[in-house]
Amino acid sequence: MPLPKAYVCLPIQEVGLKILRGAVDFKIWEKEGAPPRDELLKNLKDVEGLLSGLPVRVDEELLNAAPKLKVVSNYAVGYDNIDVAAATRRGICVTNTPEVLTQATADLTFALILASARRIVEASAFLRSGDWKVWGPELLVGVDVSGASIGVVGFGQIGQAVARRAKGFDMNVFYFDTARKPEAEASLGAKHLPLEELLRESDFVTLHCLLNDQTRNLIGEKELRSMKKTAILINAARGPLVDQAALFRACSEKWIGGAGLDVFVKEPVPLDEPLLTLPNVTTVPHIGSAGRVSRNGMATRSAENLVAALQGKRPRDLVNGEVWKG
Ligand code: GLV
Ligand code: GLV
Repeated sequence: MPLPKAYVCLPIQEVGLKILRGAVDFKIWEKEGAPPRDELLKNLKDVEGLLSGLPVRVDEELLNAAPKLKVVSNYAVGYDNIDVAAATRRGICVTNTPEVLTQATADLTFALILASARRIVEASAFLRSGDWKVWGPELLVGVDVSGASIGVVGFGQIGQAVARRAKGFDMNVFYFDTARKPEAEASLGAKHLPLEELLRESDFVTLHCLLNDQTRNLIGEKELRSMKKTAILINAARGPLVDQAALFRACSEKWIGGAGLDVFVKEPVPLDEPLLTLPNVTTVPHIGSAGRVSRNGMATRSAENLVAALQGKRPRDLVNGEVWKG
């Protein structure tokens, strides 16, 4: 039997490629970033499996170009780059990579919390520019993290992993989620609050929800204005959860203390984005899951999910369970 054909849109780690070799007949985009759209579309005619990633928009147009497609395996936990409803209508499996990147993303979230609160990037630039003349009581004073309150918006695996770290810093943990999580409440001592109250009460607000029509622009002008003047907003989830223009005004006009951002509405973030001019905004380029172990885990999981579906087995991380009849 000939092996099923697949297209791999990203140069994933060798541990993942090993799983694919011998199980699928695949072509891979070896260069940086994702394949240009026309290059991608013209490769999909006979393809049954697609290993996609965040820079690849899987929409009606792409699905139309891939009439034999059975599975889209996303190399990410989030899947807002995929039109899941359109895939489901065609009976195509969509999978993601949960769990393997939970700790790395929570670590990066905490790095942003600490860096923003203690002004690490600004302090480093200050030192290197030769401005450090003397130690002083008011030099680069920031916000204390230990003992502060943190509001976790979206209390799934990553949100809970952030809460666990927060406990180690003796923080008071609030959370908001559409579903109550009684077990996590008990084990982490986290208190559920309505979003409005969480925003009012928290010294740090950190976002960990999926991006969808319900969560787009979850944090806009009204929400930012309701936060403490000293509060710091952290976003290591998805850029469009936040109204970026409102966030710029909030940080420049000091409605809030600042922000730490791993994600942006448009990525890569254009260099003329006004947020990049603000010293109280810490920015990194969507590296939440970029730990060696985690990235290998994502390569493994995305390859396993692809192969499983192509071999007619229910993939472990099926996002749209309703397509599975087997
Ligand atoms: C990264 O942003 C992911 O969703 O895995
Ligand atoms: C600061 O360096 C201190 O010793 O308090």
